[in-house]
Amino acid sequence: MSGPLYTFVSRDDNSTVYAEVSKILLATGHWKRLKKDNPRFNLMLGERNRLPFGRLGHEPGLVQLVNYYRGADKLCRKASLVKLIKTSPELRDSCSWFPESYIIYPTDLKTPVAPASSNGFSHLKSNPKTDEREVFLASYNARKESGEGSVWIAKSSAGAKGAGILISHDAADLLDYIDNQGQVHVIQKYLEKPLLLEPGHRKFDIRSWVLVDHQYNIYLYREGVLRTSSEPYNSQDLGDMTSHLTNHCIQKEQSLNYGRYEEGNEMFFDDFRLYLLKAHGVTLETSILPQIKHIIKSCLSCVEAAISTKHLSYQSFQLFGFDFMVDESFKVWLIEINGAPACAQKLYSELCQGIVDVAVSSVFSLSGDSGSSSPYSSSPSSTFNLSTANANACSSPKLRGPLHVGPFTRL
Ligand SMILES: Nc1ncnc2c1ncn2[C@@H]1O[C@H](COP(=O)(O)OP(=O)(O)O)[C@@H](O)[C@H]1O
Ligand SMILES: [Mg+2]
Repeated sequence: MSGPLYTFVSRDDNSTVYAEVSKILLATGHWKRLKKDNPRFNLMLGERNRLPFGRLGHEPGLVQLVNYYRGADKLCRKASLVKLIKTSPELRDSCSWFPESYIIYPTDLKTPVAPASSNGFSHLKSNPKTDEREVFLASYNARKESGEGSVWIAKSSAGAKGAGILISHDAADLLDYIDNQGQVHVIQKYLEKPLLLEPGHRKFDIRSWVLVDHQYNIYLYREGVLRTSSEPYNSQDLGDMTSHLTNHCIQKEQSLNYGRYEEGNEMFFDDFRLYLLKAHGVTLETSILPQIKHIIKSCLSCVEAAISTKHLSYQSFQLFGFDFMVDESFKVWLIEINGAPACAQKLYSELCQGIVDVAVSSVFSLSGDSGSSSPYSSSPSSTFNLSTANANACSSPKLRGPLHVGPFTRL
């Protein structure tokens, strides 16, 4: 075998996904790992919040690829997602899969407050920091009067792992809570009638992994995981976090029944498929997956023009974790989008090999390798090599990747 063709730097020691990707690259024999600060790399496996985007793509003769899209936080921060959904022309009128949500800033005389009568969203467009508490209160009161569900959930915009969350049917409690936290939150309609798992009458959410390649092809990973609660769902006790929040760390640390129903409170699609058929006579493929795919495409398409790197001097790809809930009428709701998702333990090697095949080998082909798994190998013009790189990067129209690459399917 000839020596390495390409080089990479790996700068995030905390990412288990990219530690595995590094291992896979090195094992090919075609990749060499450089010191973290060496600028002459082909691939940067970067640190999510410290990416030197402005410096990428300026090394003469080098194609540079990085594992994040600049601006993807529009989807991955809770308040930004609410704003995006309310203001983007593609989603504003048609989005029925996101729970009603409001952006709330802690009370501060400088923060402009959108008036309750505001039915458009110009306030969010004109001032990036507009508080929606009056609009929230108007909706809260209208729902209360009409006897519709009155439970809401407040979550910190930058929060994760179920921290900084309050569930309540008292608007004043929710707003006081946020005022005391001192950072931007989202108040969202609580999904009061989730589909529950039996035995145990338990709530769950669904994590799907999605990979966007350098040409903005969107790939869905075949496997998904349900994160389950191991305590019965109790709509009468909104303070019992183990019954309402399905985050792995909440369940692991707080539920006395952790692991009782599913190992590690995780159920994979094969078991969920069987469960849905047996318990409800519906199939995952027809009832749930089409909704999941539609939501993923809608979200990612709506930011494509803003974040695509097709016309830039460097290229990006990114793995996203989309989290969903299902209600008792099998309607799928988007809960949040994670920009640097971890992976379920048993899926690491397959998912990470998929990342290499879909997102890395499509840019850096291993042309000397007859057994190349490059998904684009049937259309060589879509892969880069050192000599044609820059011409390709800037002028080609969007190239559709293959429909299937290992465990990934293009949406
Ligand atoms: N609108 C909602 N209705 C019902 N349950 C929700 C809602 N939003 C979140 N949850 C529950 O709370 C958990 C944590 O919420 P999430 O938005 O994912 O925040 P975090 O970033 O802390 O994970 C979810 O996994 C889900 O179980
Ligand atoms: Mg979450």
